[in-house]
Amino acid sequence: MSMRRFSITLAAAATALLLALLPWAPGAAEETAQPLRDSAPEGFLIGSSVAGGGHHEAEPYPDPFAEDHAYTALLGQEFGSLTPENRMKWSDLRPSEDTYDFSIADEIVDFAERNGQEVRGHALLWHDQNPDWLEEGEHSEEELREILREHVTTVVGRYEGRIHQWDVANEVIDDEGHLRTKDNFWLRELGPEALVDTFRWAHEADPEADLFLNDYNVEEINDKSDAYLELIGQMLDADVPVHGFAAQAHLSTAAGFPESLADNLDRFGDLGLRTALTEVDVRVEMPRRDSTPTGGQTAEQADFYSRALEACLDVESCTSFTVWSFTDRYSWVPVTFPGTGAATVMDNGFSRKPAYDALEDTLQAHLPSQTAVW
Ligand code: G3I
Repeated sequence: MSMRRFSITLAAAATALLLALLPWAPGAAEETAQPLRDSAPEGFLIGSSVAGGGHHEAEPYPDPFAEDHAYTALLGQEFGSLTPENRMKWSDLRPSEDTYDFSIADEIVDFAERNGQEVRGHALLWHDQNPDWLEEGEHSEEELREILREHVTTVVGRYEGRIHQWDVANEVIDDEGHLRTKDNFWLRELGPEALVDTFRWAHEADPEADLFLNDYNVEEINDKSDAYLELIGQMLDADVPVHGFAAQAHLSTAAGFPESLADNLDRFGDLGLRTALTEVDVRVEMPRRDSTPTGGQTAEQADFYSRALEACLDVESCTSFTVWSFTDRYSWVPVTFPGTGAATVMDNGFSRKPAYDALEDTLQAHLPSQTAVW
C-alpha cells in the first residue's frame, strides 16, 4: 500500500472513531465517506463520463462541464479517470472536413491532469455520431481511407502520452454476433480492413496507449461476446495492436444481473488483454421522469452496482470501472429509454444513493487489510 493511501486510511479511521463517539454530530455519515477514488485498490481506477454534447444539447440546462461547478467539483474529487461522453466523437471534433475543434476535448484533458486523473478516449470508429459531411459526402474509397487515417493520427497523436486508453472500435458487432458491415459507415465503405487499420494507425500515433474494443450486451457469455473473442483472437494472430476489451455495462434491474460477467471478462484476460467496465449504469422502471424510485428499487440497484464492481475487482485483467454519469441530473437513460431512469449513484441534487455507498463498501472490502502501527 502507498504511504499516501495508508495515511488517508488512518485519517479516515480516526475520523470514524471520533464520529462514533459523537453520534449526534451533524452530517456524520456524509463526512466519514472518502472519495471513491481514494478507496480504490492500488492500480484500479474508478471513473466517470464527463457530461456534454449528445443528448445534453436538447436538455433545458447549460453545458454541464462548463457551467455546473458543483458537478465539476465532484467530478474532480470522486474519480480517478474521466471519459468524455461525447466530446471526442467525430460529431464533436469534426465540424467540417477541413477543420477540427479540440477546444472542449482539450479542456477535459487539462482538467483531468489538474486533478491527477487518467483519461479514456472515446471513440474512433463507430456507427453513430458521425458528421453529415462524412456520411453524406461523395468521397472515393481512397479518400475515405485517407480521411480516417488522418483523423486517427491527428486525434490520437494530439493526446499522445495523455490518454492512457482509447475505445478504438465502439460497438462494431451486432447482437447476433456479426460484424456491423452495413450500419457502420467505415466497415460498409472500406470493409473489415478499416478496423485493423484504425488500430494500427492509433498505435503508431501513441505506442503507449492501450487500444480497446468496447460494446454493450457483452457482459454475459453470449453470441456477441463469443464473436468478440473470436474476432480479437484473429486480430492478435495477425499482430494487430489490440490491448483491451470493455463491456459498457448499461444494466437494468428488469433484465437481471449478468451472472457470467466475471467469467466472461476472465476469458478475455486469458488472451492477454486488459478488461474494463466502461459505461456502467443501472436503470430502474420509472412511470414518470420525476418519479422517485422505491426503497426496493434503490436497494436492488445498489446490489447490481456492487456485484458489477465486485466482478471487475475479482478479475485480474479488469482494472477500471467507469460510470456513465454519476448523477441522475445528466444521465442519458431517461432520454433513450422512456419509462426508466434514476440509473446513477447520485440523485439530481448530488445526494448519494445506496448505490454510491455500495460502491464505497465494495472498494473498502477489497483494500488490503491494515495493521495499526501506533
Ligand atoms: O443527431 C440528432 C439530431 O439530428 C437531432 O436534431 C437531435 C435532437 O435532439 O438529436 C441528435 O441525436 C442525439 C445524439 O446524441 C447526437 O448529438 C441524440 O438525440 C442523443 O440521444 C445522443 O446522445 C448521446 C448518444 O451516445 C449518441 O448515441 C449520449 O449523450 C451519450 O451518452 C451516448 O453515449 C453512448 C456511448 O458513446 C456508447 N455506448 C452507448 C452510450 C449510450 O448511448
